[in-house]
Amino acid sequence: MISTYITEAMQRSSWIRKMFEVGQELKRIYGVENVYDLTLGNPIIEPPDKFFEVLAMLSVNTSSGMHRYMSNAGFTEVRKKIASHLTKKNILESEFKHIIMTVGVAGGMNVILKTILNPGDEVIIFAPYFAEYIFYVQNHQGKIVISETTDDFDIDLHDLDCKITAKTRAIIINSPNNPTGKTYGEDKIDGLVDLLQTKQKKLKSQIFLISDEPYRDIIYDNTVVPSIVSKFENSFLAYSWSKSLSIPGERIGYIAVNPQMDGVSTILDGLIFCNRILGFVNAPATMQMVVSKLLNATVRVKYYEQKRDRIYQALTNYGYDVVKPTGTFYFFPKCPTADEMEFIERAKQERVLVVPGAGFGRPGYFRISYCTDDRTIERALDQFAKLI
Ligand SMILES: Cc1ncc(COP(=O)(O)O)c(C=O)c1O
Repeated sequence: MISTYITEAMQRSSWIRKMFEVGQELKRIYGVENVYDLTLGNPIIEPPDKFFEVLAMLSVNTSSGMHRYMSNAGFTEVRKKIASHLTKKNILESEFKHIIMTVGVAGGMNVILKTILNPGDEVIIFAPYFAEYIFYVQNHQGKIVISETTDDFDIDLHDLDCKITAKTRAIIINSPNNPTGKTYGEDKIDGLVDLLQTKQKKLKSQIFLISDEPYRDIIYDNTVVPSIVSKFENSFLAYSWSKSLSIPGERIGYIAVNPQMDGVSTILDGLIFCNRILGFVNAPATMQMVVSKLLNATVRVKYYEQKRDRIYQALTNYGYDVVKPTGTFYFFPKCPTADEMEFIERAKQERVLVVPGAGFGRPGYFRISYCTDDRTIERALDQFAKLI
């Protein structure tokens, strides 16, 4: 028998997976090319050529000891390069000791939450949200509190103000955002930081800001993503190369900690310890070396931007109510029917798969993931025209 908690968690588990399974079944019946699957954020684009060049170079030029256990925080040389990169890019003035290499953002977030949460501590997330946050927080006995965003998916500081209590331990922020594609502007971030500083003083507590940024480099229209981690001392940045280098299967990322954080050295020790005891031990050695040589490389972002433009133009022409995303590879349009599941079901009948907004804590919407090929997108758009 599996545990009661896991039995229930699996039942509540992500719509994305459920739709994926529906997709597998439809593909079996109709053939892969006749199902237009827009559910998963698993990019079909291959990593840049440079990734394979570095990988090939490392396979013949491996330094002695490269494949052994190492410090649980990762290779010092790699951490130095990342700290210097973050400093140069004005993302965070930091040294190597503020960087911990992780098994993607998923690993990084679990390490952070394990380190800071006491049972019953509250963690605020913004709806619509990345559904896995709920499980990450519950993994470490935290309690989720939801703050609703505005109609255009911006942070509502008034709502957030009402949700912060003496039990609030952390706030998770994700910009550019999955599922909406929204990037929060400088003014909003400054307002958020002011609010957190006021609350910390008033409640005499430490509130952590966890900035989940796997889409930091997938941005359009020259949008500037303000550095959240440098603006607020009690903040963590969780980054991964899953999307920017299109290597989600390689499981590589890092946590950067603001050096001004209250109690920073104990927190760093805690993070390194948790990376170990959660069973990650350390991030994959070869991938650490690879990404350290590719800090300025990304996939071709224009490839996604062109898809964003095409879908936005089509959906708005058809009459869908949709906010134009400034990053990621997602759209989060409003459902044209009051009953969201009716729309999702009709779309399924047309062999188009999308994820219901309920899976992200905002019913009445659906998510399109467009990190897929143009043929699938064009066929799906034809069906969206019909569906409305
Ligand atoms: C918002 C968000 N956070 C975290 C993750 C996990 O990413 P990683 O592959 O780095 O663990 C994803 C993956 O889709 C995501 O969309």
